[in-house]
Amino acid sequence: MNHRHLVDIASLGAPTLRHILGLSTATPQPLLDGKGAALIFEKPSNRTRHSMEMAVVQLGGHPVYTRGEEIGFDVRETVEDITKIMAGYHAVLAARVFSHSVIERMVACDVVPVVNMLSDASHPLQALADIITMEEHCGPINTLTVAWLGDYNNVARSLAEAVCLLGGTISLGCPEDYNASQEEWARLMALGGSVRQSTDPMKAVEGAHVVHTDTWISMGQEAEAAERREIFSQYCVNDAVMANALPGAKFMHCMPAHRGEEVSAEVFDGASSLVIEQGHHRLTAARGALSWVQGA
Ligand code: CP
Ligand code: NVA
Repeated sequence: MNHRHLVDIASLGAPTLRHILGLSTATPQPLLDGKGAALIFEKPSNRTRHSMEMAVVQLGGHPVYTRGEEIGFDVRETVEDITKIMAGYHAVLAARVFSHSVIERMVACDVVPVVNMLSDASHPLQALADIITMEEHCGPINTLTVAWLGDYNNVARSLAEAVCLLGGTISLGCPEDYNASQEEWARLMALGGSVRQSTDPMKAVEGAHVVHTDTWISMGQEAEAAERREIFSQYCVNDAVMANALPGAKFMHCMPAHRGEEVSAEVFDGASSLVIEQGHHRLTAARGALSWVQGA
């Protein structure tokens, strides 16, 4: 590859992941001075759009926000044509897509750095922010047990990869058929750290320093909403769940959140919640990711 691409966390490896985390918290350098950054969104966003736009500005560049339907991946023209044309205008292309294969096809062109801003498979920018937040508030990842309750989705997958790569323990508490498959379990174990899994949410949070969750209904899964609310109904992070984690355990959520579904209002808005700090660290993480793909 001629360019650095941020597709997922696992493919970075631990030393590069640590390097990006270091860049994130370092003073921003003008690495995008006079350059463009295309931010393409096939799905809605608050945190990702705003943190990426402001990170581009802080690195001296100019962000160009574009809705997916305007450029029409494989509708108006092919992913490859879009990527090759935009590479002439921008120093980085970042995309939030329904299908991870779109990111992979952009990367395969290898004409400009590509950043995954969320796909069905992963959300690496979120995992960077999650690690920065946990290390700031709870200690080094290799000393932590990080619980995840709910759907083993894009956010969970990236978080698990990051925790494993950095030598921590990830404890998954997900319903049957919504947890990590045997194959996925083996893939995580090969990254390092350790992996626990239980369908019992109370068991999954035992010994946890941090309890994470996310929506039960990810963008694009709206047709399954009623079924999913039923399947996940026992996985709400409430006071009883938090009381079964370690004393002083923290709560985290990538947001948007749904009080009364995956988390109770008491926990989400309570003293153990790091959700606002976590959301703010999306900007910290975006600076690191953009700096790294620019060669820092
Ligand atoms: N957590 C996250 O990615 O939020 P947005 O969907 O608002 O970008
Ligand atoms: N799992 C969620 C994350 C949103 C930031 C989704 O994909 O919609």
